[in-house]
Amino acid sequence: MSGRAEAGGSFAFTAENLKTAKALVAKYPEGRQQSAVMPLLDLAQRQLGWTSPAVIEYVADFLDLPAIRVWEVASFYTMYYREPVGEYRLHVCTTTPCWLRGSDEVVRVCKEKTGLDFGETDAEGRFSLFEVECLGACVNAPILQVNDDYYEDLDAARTAALLDILAEGRPPPAGTLAERLNSAPEGGKTTLLEAELPC
Ligand code: FES
Repeated sequence: MSGRAEAGGSFAFTAENLKTAKALVAKYPEGRQQSAVMPLLDLAQRQLGWTSPAVIEYVADFLDLPAIRVWEVASFYTMYYREPVGEYRLHVCTTTPCWLRGSDEVVRVCKEKTGLDFGETDAEGRFSLFEVECLGACVNAPILQVNDDYYEDLDAARTAALLDILAEGRPPPAGTLAERLNSAPEGGKTTLLEAELPC
């Protein structure tokens, strides 16, 4: 995302994003263009850095919707930031599967290392911290989403190391931080061990 912006400013898509927005709206059937509200909010947020009141008004005008309909969407989903946020947005999942797998420790380390509570952004604009519901990656719980990337199989030490690397501006490759491939068992496969299965 590009930089932070002051509240209350005006908003308009760049020429390139205007083209993208029109292409997004065109994907919906005639009369259903209003369903493009979520991708348009996402596009606007990626341009401005957050979903400001001006963004909401602009998207509402773009789709010929009452502004309240866009506010409802923007205020429901945690992926829309209604205040300026930092360079790295830390979204800690604390829903049951992540909690059972140790998300309390992920939360503790995130709070200790950044000095932030949920919903806060540091003065340097480096980190913002959020608590979120299930991110749909429970198989590799617990999960910390950083911007668009998922970091998986976390514990206290892995979380601390990840935050140190982010603080240096060097985000590591996304995915599991355990010794396994994707969601395969640690230590290698335990089933389907035959080299070739008959078709
Ligand atoms: S509960 Fe955390 S990803 Fe599903």
